[in-house]
Amino acid sequence: MHPDEFRRLGYRVVDLIAEYRASIADRPVWSQAQPGEVRSQFPATPPEQPEPPDAILADVERIIMPALSNWQHPRFFGYFPANASLASLLGDMLSGGLGQLGLNWQASPPLTELEELTTDWMRQLLGLSAVWRGVIQDTASTSTLVALLCARERASDHSQTRGGMQALPRPLIVYTSAQSHSSVEKAALLAGFGRDNLRLLPVDETFALRVDALEAAIAADRAAGNVPCAVVASIGATATTACDPLEPIGAICQREGVWLHVDAAMAGSAMILPECRYLWQGIEQADSLVLNPHKWLGAAFDCSLYYARDPQHLIRVMSTNPSYLQTSADGAVTNYRDWGIPLGRRFRALKLYFLLRCEGAEGLRARLRRDLANARWLAAQIDAAPDWRRLAPTPLQTVCVRHEPAGLTGEELDRHTLRWVGAINASGAAYLTPAILEGRWMARISIGAEPTEHADVAALWELMQHTARQMIG
Ligand SMILES: Cc1ncc(COP(=O)(O)O)c(C=O)c1O
Repeated sequence: MHPDEFRRLGYRVVDLIAEYRASIADRPVWSQAQPGEVRSQFPATPPEQPEPPDAILADVERIIMPALSNWQHPRFFGYFPANASLASLLGDMLSGGLGQLGLNWQASPPLTELEELTTDWMRQLLGLSAVWRGVIQDTASTSTLVALLCARERASDHSQTRGGMQALPRPLIVYTSAQSHSSVEKAALLAGFGRDNLRLLPVDETFALRVDALEAAIAADRAAGNVPCAVVASIGATATTACDPLEPIGAICQREGVWLHVDAAMAGSAMILPECRYLWQGIEQADSLVLNPHKWLGAAFDCSLYYARDPQHLIRVMSTNPSYLQTSADGAVTNYRDWGIPLGRRFRALKLYFLLRCEGAEGLRARLRRDLANARWLAAQIDAAPDWRRLAPTPLQTVCVRHEPAGLTGEELDRHTLRWVGAINASGAAYLTPAILEGRWMARISIGAEPTEHADVAALWELMQHTARQMIG
């Protein structure tokens, strides 16, 4: 495609995105497409001849746009806020357009240096000490896998340089709470620990990891001759945004020589607010942490920040140095390929660069404070309403709730919950995630889409009450 043609079509694509965002509130929140419906509208075989770009764009508007699930909708309350702010999208578009590939510093000096700069800007905004060094990974799942690989190698005196885990005399153990995200379990399995060596520990009444259970599990493992290797603590566990107590957990990890990784994938964004930092008090004792600016903060997916207290662990475990990647600058620069799994790296820092400069820290803080106030308001309405029960504390922007009309219990109550949540989701007027907490279905309302204002949360509350009443009436 010639650059002139790109310019003409590129303007149209930007117009399409701008119009989509400007009119998103008029669309149903969640896709009502049936499985296979999108694919069946395209030819099954690849195009042999070039097609007119206008026809390709027309198919996007006709087939793809109507089937979208609209995560950027003001009444999207599902999963977690996945704010692809238009400011950060500018960086994403540039990242693709400039066609950079960070194999090493020399392959794109600005790619590396903007990543150093923006991860350090974020470190300062999060209130972390200067010791932390950041790198951008694709997702929290990758970041947690990287952390457990580093933990495994530290605990095994770099067994990868010998017979690997298979040659270890005693199993290495990973500890996390039963409320931690499934990516923790996945990372432990992928890193070769094995399910038998993953301890899913009980939580307290706030759904935070029980410190006494952690201590007991470590002691039991030592007594059995196992090697405690890593704790993955959650700051903002997925179901309820519970925060594990980092101070006592960190003290245990230091005493026991165990790696502490903190999964703050969703809630980490809140740490740009000084008033929220009590939730991760003790963070400075961790070895690594992950947070996803591609969630609440507003960086277009994908942009996951991994911070390490000592990046030498990353480099020892993941460095590769074939002759064709060596340059005269090595030694004086950061080669981020040694800080993660992929060799080729995108210019993801541009997303943070645009987000932070366009919104400013004050703009981001104001938006997050708005969301926290909306969550507090909804929590108060639920607490005051008969037949409604809030099922977990609301330290951040996620509200866990159940409608419990008199006489409904057990599986009947589950059916009622799934019915009213399903009816709201099918209506297209709002979207919430049903989830199981302590064996029973609940509705999980995650507030924080970029355009969500108080009126949207108030409308949701009206809709919840009306729909739930209808279902029993
Ligand atoms: C606490 C927590 N950890 C990890 C993840 C996984 O994030 P990613 O999709 O970036 O792997 C999530 C996503 O919802 C999460 O809430």
